[in-house]
Amino acid sequence: MEKRRTRASVGLPLTEEQKVVFDTAKKAGPHAVCFFNNKGGVGKTTLVANLGAELALNFGARVLLVDCDPQCNLTQYALGDEESLKLYSDADPQSVYSVIRPLALGKGYSSNLPIIKPEKFGFDLVVGDPRLALQEDLLAQDWRDAKAGGMRGIQTTFVFFDLLKKAKDLNYDFVLFDMGPSLGAINRSILLAVDYFVVPMAIDIFSIWAIRNIGQTVSVWRRELQSGISIAEDPSELPEFERDHSLKFIGYVTQQHKERGFTKSDDDKDGGQTKRIVQAYQEINKNIPAEIEKSLSPFYTKGNINPHLGEVRHLGSLAPMSQSQNTPLLNVAAGGGYIQLRKQAREIYRDIAEKFLSNIVSA
Ligand SMILES: Nc1ncnc2c1ncn2[C@@H]1O[C@H](COP(=O)(O)OP(=O)(O)O)[C@@H](O)[C@H]1O
Ligand SMILES: [Mg+2]
Repeated sequence: MEKRRTRASVGLPLTEEQKVVFDTAKKAGPHAVCFFNNKGGVGKTTLVANLGAELALNFGARVLLVDCDPQCNLTQYALGDEESLKLYSDADPQSVYSVIRPLALGKGYSSNLPIIKPEKFGFDLVVGDPRLALQEDLLAQDWRDAKAGGMRGIQTTFVFFDLLKKAKDLNYDFVLFDMGPSLGAINRSILLAVDYFVVPMAIDIFSIWAIRNIGQTVSVWRRELQSGISIAEDPSELPEFERDHSLKFIGYVTQQHKERGFTKSDDDKDGGQTKRIVQAYQEINKNIPAEIEKSLSPFYTKGNINPHLGEVRHLGSLAPMSQSQNTPLLNVAAGGGYIQLRKQAREIYRDIAEKFLSNIVSA
């Protein structure tokens, strides 16, 4: 399956500050980070894939991505149609489902991680699986058990902890999770296992609601799990780090959905409608920092980090080109006007990577 992989660095050389922050983060690692928003289409998959590629290709990090969205968009993006077809033609593809399935069969945790090396992204990948949706029920039932202190339920809830232990043994610096847009059982198990979460968001009212949902829901889950663990039959069987675990917020990335470069003449033609849209957008954008602080302050210490990791501008058709070439945005084969867009993409993801590393170090 493995073809020759691109590992050469792309574009801008690292600055001294970037090297230092990376080394510091690496020494404190490994780090498990999930990218979550219960709103779809806000650029989660694009962000996790391109940040993962930036860390792997340019910073030289060992990065593992885990595709936990049953829609498998990340897997398709990284592998392409042909390889995806080959993979999913198998009746029982080795995927994230193979990690969870043995638990459902009462066989305990799976023995090894199914890892694939996409050719052009620099990171390793545990591929997604549409059958993951079938496991929501198991995880939901076992969650009820976990809250009541049942060891089996707690163990199932910790399935991603086990995955992370294995990734640690394989010397990854970062394990990044792409997730579907729900507050269901799979995403709960991920959010309870990882060290950090990042919120990719659009600048719209739905993303403001999503931030409120995330904060409230995760706080309730953490309390319920801690209470379950405190009355568990034999909590000493749970490794130390599972009991002391706390989830931290390390930032949000805003994503422009449409070009906002309206001209004055557009404005005149539509009787001020464009102006109103721009004003509403600016209003929401202005309120985001306060909303983040209000809803997510239990997950970070104000002043330690600046949670705004960056803004990804609309990159036009560079995004679909990157998908059809199964190549990160920073490395799309492009000519003409695309060279400028690709340069911008390189700068944007370098900047996000630097802030991401710096917030991991300071969180
Ligand atoms: N910066 C961008 N510029 C242009 N299109 C983008 C950008 N980021 C994402 N897209 C496109 O928007 C769509 C949704 O993005 P995706 O990352 O799949 O979101 P999510 O994972 O949150 O559902 C995809 O088709 C993607 O190519
Ligand atoms: Mg997605």
